[in-house]
Amino acid sequence: MEKKQLEKMLNELTVEGIHVVDSDGTTLLYNDIMAELEGLDREEVLNKKILDVLPSLKGQSTLMHVLSTKEPILNNLQTYFNKEGKEISTINSTWPIKREGKIWGAVEIARDVTQISKLAQKVMEPQNHGQNINPKNKVKSIKYSFEDILGNSSEILHAKQIAKMASKSSSNVLIIGESGTGKELFAQGIHVASSRKNQPFIAENCAAIPESLLEGLLFGTTKGGFTGAVDRAGLYQQAHGGTLLLDEINAMPMGLQSKLLRAIQEGKIRPVGGTNEVQVDVRIIAIINEDPLKAIEEGRLRKDLFFRLSVINIFIPPLRERKEDIELLTEYFIDKFSKENNKNIEGIDKEIEKFFQTYGWPGNVRELEHVLEGSINLVREGELIQQRHLPYYAQRSIDMPPHEATDKGEKEKTISLEELTDKNIDLDKCLTDIEDSLIKEALRVNEGNITKAAKNLGISRQRLQHKLKKRFLKEYINKS
Ligand SMILES: Nc1ncnc2c1ncn2[C@@H]1O[C@H](COP(=O)(O)OP(=O)(O)OP(=O)(O)O)[C@@H](O)[C@H]1O
Ligand SMILES: [Mg+2]
Repeated sequence: MEKKQLEKMLNELTVEGIHVVDSDGTTLLYNDIMAELEGLDREEVLNKKILDVLPSLKGQSTLMHVLSTKEPILNNLQTYFNKEGKEISTINSTWPIKREGKIWGAVEIARDVTQISKLAQKVMEPQNHGQNINPKNKVKSIKYSFEDILGNSSEILHAKQIAKMASKSSSNVLIIGESGTGKELFAQGIHVASSRKNQPFIAENCAAIPESLLEGLLFGTTKGGFTGAVDRAGLYQQAHGGTLLLDEINAMPMGLQSKLLRAIQEGKIRPVGGTNEVQVDVRIIAIINEDPLKAIEEGRLRKDLFFRLSVINIFIPPLRERKEDIELLTEYFIDKFSKENNKNIEGIDKEIEKFFQTYGWPGNVRELEHVLEGSINLVREGELIQQRHLPYYAQRSIDMPPHEATDKGEKEKTISLEELTDKNIDLDKCLTDIEDSLIKEALRVNEGNITKAAKNLGISRQRLQHKLKKRFLKEYINKS
């Protein structure tokens, strides 16, 4: 193919910036997208040596670096201001080009992730309770202390006792529990009861951030690459002296988990694109919403990181395993929402009380809280909360106690094994399809508002975000 044709194709067909140099660092190919990203003119760069065009890049150009080391640099996040002063984030990969074993040149491909990067930052903000990234503001964002953790069951008292002990030290903590069990309460409680209470408390949800951006957000970015990247302190550094809460640690890519392990072991971090290490004093509280041993077995959690993090383990059992707490929590939430709604509510009907004891509470305390909040909106002054005030799905569960429900379902819906093998049903795919359409519908109804959609779906915002990220984040970003 003619070079001209190739250039035309690269300009028209690709959505990525492409820059090819020969073994001397002279530019052979430089497409319009790269020119736009870097704020340079193609003509300025083509057929010239990189360092003649931009002498300030000496020692920093990734292309030159790859030419000398002959090793690729992959997925390097760069944030910089281009000539027009616009902040641009790109993910760059640079490879050596070899011919007959000899280095012939190098190619760099840059993907514009400015939009995703902005979205990620927006997503991060609610994690920090709407505060900006000024560590001084962090302390104010704490909402809970140990007194807010209610419950008289031996399980919750035991967990609280360990948490109180944890607050006396700076050891790392791993909090384990299903969604809605109060993990955030425990994490904040430990921070405010510790000697770090006047230092920053920074929370990051590892499932809510696209993988390629997580490293930069966590460890910061520094000068490097083709144009001058900005220095940006990561959350790890911003939490210096205080506590860094890493939520859904099992969603952190394995490669990054080993970088985190190194940071914890050495008490130092190295920003993305940087060579200097920074000394950081941070107490890590990690959260996991599944059995860590299962996560290790299935390759979502590094064993060595698990051991590092679990100097202190706090396991919060699901609500169905500490039913003694239901009554106290019910009273507390009724009182709280009655006051908020200016309504005098008597309490709950005996039948509902019984139902609360037999129901499985898959969404744990958060679900109980939402059920009562919803009911209090419907119940009249002086009335008891009754079946008709509960959300629709809960009403159905009362009508159809668990055993009866499965019995009926089995009679009407069972598919015989013959039918199954006949049709070759792919159960996982069917379930994924159903889930996808429910998620899309919830997002449509709520005009893309993730918090509201998650509430409708009865799952946490984080879980919904995790699912979006896994399935169709791209589609969602384009729409919003
Ligand atoms: N023991 C408790 N006492 C009082 N309120 C509680 C308790 N446990 C949980 N809650 C309430 O339940 C809700 C969920 O708690 P929290 O956000 O800490 O859950 P989580 O375990 O972090 O859930 P997720 O995994 O979904 O993030 C909050 O509104 C919290 O106030
Ligand atoms: Mg949480």
